[in-house]
Amino acid sequence: MEPDTAPPRVDPAAIERIASLRRERDAVILAHSYQPPEIQDLADFVGDSLELSRAAAATPHRTVVLCGVRFMAETAYILAPEKTILMPAPDAGCPLAGCMTPEDLVAMQESFPGALPVVYVNSGVELKALAYSCCTSANAAAVVEAVPADEIIFGPDRNLGLFVERRTRKRMRIFPGSCPPHARLTAGDIALARASWPDAEVLVHPETPPECWDAADHVLGTGGMIARVAASGASRFIVGTEEGMCYRLGRLFPGREFRTAGSIHCPNMKKTTPGLVASALESMETAVRFDESLRAAAHASVMRMASIG
Ligand code: 13P
Repeated sequence: MEPDTAPPRVDPAAIERIASLRRERDAVILAHSYQPPEIQDLADFVGDSLELSRAAAATPHRTVVLCGVRFMAETAYILAPEKTILMPAPDAGCPLAGCMTPEDLVAMQESFPGALPVVYVNSGVELKALAYSCCTSANAAAVVEAVPADEIIFGPDRNLGLFVERRTRKRMRIFPGSCPPHARLTAGDIALARASWPDAEVLVHPETPPECWDAADHVLGTGGMIARVAASGASRFIVGTEEGMCYRLGRLFPGREFRTAGSIHCPNMKKTTPGLVASALESMETAVRFDESLRAAAHASVMRMASIG
């Protein structure tokens, strides 16, 4: 079986426009590890969702081009409202983030009045604004442990909630949302991939179903996967997360081989193109902004996460 090494789609004219516009606009380009190869290649920084929001807040540049999906750009704006946060593909939503509404959370709070809500960053700003704390896949269990309540309302991702439930004594009340590409992965897909690469280490994201965690060697967010590969002596890895991660790992670890288990493809992550990055910098019209009281409320729950993990 061949490793996953999709080549970048080259667009020299767009790359040239970006090179002059990024100086003109005082811009930094941040990309998630699920972005297409050509976007990862032109970015100043590639990272997981937590690292991207930290980078947006820490950068001295006035303009941040966030190559990812909408909740990532919203989180960057929550942390850095004084900067212009551009989304090159403004229609790049996240079905997981959209599946739990503020009304869903309020209904759960009515059913479980003693519980405190922890909301995955893969969520809308309105939901974050109602949460006690946010979390990412990298720190979900630590955040839940630190929340001062024995009962936790968790959403939108059911699989991440179940993953946390295995690692805490807290009573978890979990919303049944999911990331469609991750939720489709099966233990059978992993068994098939292992059959062709029996010497490989298997890493899966906690958004995959529990049967996949049991079939894997490690369950990690995308940042954790990079740390694991760095620490591991293995030369081949089967990766149970979005296919863009294999390109990222291949760039970081040129001597090793990576392939996905099954097919995990996020169409929204693939909407960003170099041409759209150039157009966003040219027009400055795709900035993410929202009402200050909403931002401030969401900021409180993002900062609570930051103080924990
Ligand atoms: P990470 O937080 O591991 O980067 O994952 C982001 C994501 O969107 C998973 O679907």
